[in-house]
Amino acid sequence: MIQHDVVIVGAGLAGMRCALEACKELDVAVLTKVYPSRSHSGAAQGGIAASLGNVEPDSWEEHMYDTIKGGDFLNDQDAVEEYVKAAPRVIYELEHMGCIFSRTSDGKIAQRSFGGHSKPRACFSADRTGHAILHALHEQLMKNAKSVKIYNEWYMHSLIVDGDRCNGVVVSNVQTGEVEVLQAKAVVFATGGYGRVFKITSNAFASTADGVMAAFDVGLPLEDPEFVQFHPSGLYRQGILFSEAARGEGGYLLNGNGERFMEKYAPSRMELAPRDIVARAEQSEINAGRGVNGEDCIHLDLRHLGEARIMERLPQIRQLGIDFIGVDCITDCLPIQPTAHYSMGGIPTDKHCHVIRDEKGTRMNGFFAAGECACVSVHGGNRLGTNSLLEAVVFGERAGRSALEYAVGIDYGNVNEGQEKAKVLEKLEDVYQRDGSESYNDIRNEMKEVMMTHCGVFRDEEKLKICIETLKGLQERFKKGKVTDKGKLFNTEIYEVLELGNMLGMALIIASAALERKESRGGHFRTDFAIRDDANFLHHSMVFNSPEGPVIKKKSVVITKHQPAERTY
Ligand code: FUM
Repeated sequence: MIQHDVVIVGAGLAGMRCALEACKELDVAVLTKVYPSRSHSGAAQGGIAASLGNVEPDSWEEHMYDTIKGGDFLNDQDAVEEYVKAAPRVIYELEHMGCIFSRTSDGKIAQRSFGGHSKPRACFSADRTGHAILHALHEQLMKNAKSVKIYNEWYMHSLIVDGDRCNGVVVSNVQTGEVEVLQAKAVVFATGGYGRVFKITSNAFASTADGVMAAFDVGLPLEDPEFVQFHPSGLYRQGILFSEAARGEGGYLLNGNGERFMEKYAPSRMELAPRDIVARAEQSEINAGRGVNGEDCIHLDLRHLGEARIMERLPQIRQLGIDFIGVDCITDCLPIQPTAHYSMGGIPTDKHCHVIRDEKGTRMNGFFAAGECACVSVHGGNRLGTNSLLEAVVFGERAGRSALEYAVGIDYGNVNEGQEKAKVLEKLEDVYQRDGSESYNDIRNEMKEVMMTHCGVFRDEEKLKICIETLKGLQERFKKGKVTDKGKLFNTEIYEVLELGNMLGMALIIASAALERKESRGGHFRTDFAIRDDANFLHHSMVFNSPEGPVIKKKSVVITKHQPAERTY
């Protein structure tokens, strides 16, 4: 059995920052199904939030309030306070690690405006901020190679639990197909989100709910899964992200009549209202027949920014437009639509990143989570742009510290290697042997379609019930698929089937929680319950597994400084 003091699953920003902390005293393994620099964190473009006040006076108090108002008052405010307070420190730490930030004319870290933030507080590296931080952290990990072993292209199948303790994971080396047990004193999940359950998404192919479903499968709950963020500027039909930085730099949104329609929906913030509001405004214009050329898209207009500014601040967006649809945003508008971008929900943790196993906050020993797969919850019902890179770094570091403090001085606990391996081998064998008539591609496409049309920007009871029934049908068909590659070496077909199984499970959890929440808050909008209902729904959803399907309980929201108030922009 392979042993490490701490095993971290996922090598995006949260996973790598976690490893740098835990490896100060312990032997650490980072396991990732893609090479670290291909992690989805690299797709984050526009910035990382911190109240540095380099462009306008700012404070952590303002950052805290903006985050809570943006989250429609579902955020746990004790966690938000600690998180925004940590932001300036982590920015300077990243800079000292070698992350190159764009500069003001007097040499300070530049900051730009972003939706829902009342001050320009996004620190950025042009429009490749996630990419810049990812590489800086990866370099630091390489520097610490003696105490951190990276398992590149290994797939995690399951968590090993012994009562209320977690002490390892069962994994496959994708290259050889061998199944191994990794025993650990502490396990940290930094496995990202699950945007791939939707047809239109900005998420990487790897964002398939593997981590959250591994936790769910051992009886742990998932928190607030109904809250999925649709980013307003996804490339039409493809979902690829055009950063909100485009609007932060002054870009306009235009409907098919050439109108800046945000005037109607958020007159004081216009294009820089929070994402849930802008995405709904776009979809409303499209649904009312005011899309561009009668299609399901609107226009992102950057032409007035001029070539010099676009080339300095938004070079990646320009290149994406040229490469994918042959449109140069210096001279033409980009066609966009809302794209599934971020999961506010996830594996519930306390503010120290310990995973909790019930609505009372009881800890699961030895198990920690950080980044998008976790729900702390600092974002509540809707995350503000640039707050996710911050979350990954702040809580990545914190998870590393908590795992270290937990693991120092304890033993490895009990793991029955043979039994753990056998469970996974049996499941794998079942998949290998499938020779049915169903096509996994069809099942995947149908899941994505129904999630987009019935559980997307606008939801209602009828649509959600149809969505749930459709997903149950797809789960049945999933058992009757056909696997054509029976080999072991680099059998990506097998992993895609396992990922699809996870996504089907996750989709059902999202839709079930969305059906249960009969109100509209943040990214969850019910046309049949169009207003926020604090009297009945100011609580987190905690979704548990049961033989009859997802069971939903309530967890209190931590409110410290800011009582829920009307949310207008
Ligand atoms: O639009 C963007 O650049 C995305 C940033 C974020 O999701 O934080």
